[in-house]
Amino acid sequence: MAELVLGIETSCDDTAAAIVDPEGNVLSSVTASQALLHAKFGGVFPEVAARAHINKIIPAVEEALSVAKVSPEDIRAIGVTRGPGLIGSLLVGLNTATSLGLGWGKPVIGINHLRGHLRSADLESKKVKYPAVILLVSGGHTFLAYMEDAVNISLLGTTRDDSVGEAYDKAARMLGLGYPGGPVVDKAAMAGKPSIPFPRPLLNSGLEFSFSGLKSAVARYLSATESPVVEDVSASFVEAVMEILIKKCQRAITGRPCASLVVVGGVAASPQLRAEASRLCEEVGVELCLPPLRWSTDNAAMIALATWDYLNLGVSPQPVPQVRLPISEF
Ligand code: KG4
Ligand code: ZN
Repeated sequence: MAELVLGIETSCDDTAAAIVDPEGNVLSSVTASQALLHAKFGGVFPEVAARAHINKIIPAVEEALSVAKVSPEDIRAIGVTRGPGLIGSLLVGLNTATSLGLGWGKPVIGINHLRGHLRSADLESKKVKYPAVILLVSGGHTFLAYMEDAVNISLLGTTRDDSVGEAYDKAARMLGLGYPGGPVVDKAAMAGKPSIPFPRPLLNSGLEFSFSGLKSAVARYLSATESPVVEDVSASFVEAVMEILIKKCQRAITGRPCASLVVVGGVAASPQLRAEASRLCEEVGVELCLPPLRWSTDNAAMIALATWDYLNLGVSPQPVPQVRLPISEF
């Protein structure tokens, strides 16, 4: 048959493999999470991540083939994340893909991880109406991009320092709430009052983000306050984050033709962000697309879908590892 793509993703702390057909249907998607391994460090420990990928990648590929009930002969190409990401983690996926490609006699295509995220909303059903503004908010990245269609993507603005997920995780650690920080900070915030005026860096200019000042403001407040109320600090932090994200989305949408706003990444699980994004879209009259979280966080199906874009265009980018790689460089 040879009409399927095997996607491989190991850019951070998830070891993932998936089989996707030319229409974007996901025949299988396997993700081995390392969250428990990293929990005691309060964040991803790169060397631990790379070693765990080595143990998990071949079983993940085998499971992806077996769940999809296909064999290597059914694979037309292998798509693998080539960056951005942790170099040790990327190398495990790239070496695995290259070896399988050589052994099976299949082409190997290197995919920009961020392009994968941007395509994730079209997995399984073509939901996105183009042109679209995409907000990616995860532990590793925070940026706004513009998609004229599924292939033509431009970066509108990215973070100058921390990602929003990182800010959530650091805030949670300072508040003694554990890791990952997003869900626990959101939950504490719901029981608190946003009474502390934390800063909103870069709120009134452009489409770039900055979260390190907000993170430092939380640290300063905690060290200067005798008995801080965790719920109120969380509520104030979340309010600042939401105001920044929504204001930037609004600026991006109103500045260009736009049919939909897509929000992806782990922070898209935030009930506060989902509610605020929905309010904004109603107000400005664009469709809101919130893909299921399994496609919105790191997975290999999005890498396989982006691989199909290249196969359909007849372009084969080389699978060279890149720690920092802009979307435009494919
Ligand atoms: O996309 P993701 O699963 O992994 C990568 O970073 O690639 O994103 C993880 C991030 C973490 O920082 C986590 O704290 C955050 O997503 N997160 C949330 C929520 N659930 C996870 N942030 C805010 N609210 C949530 N409910
Ligand atoms: Zn990611």
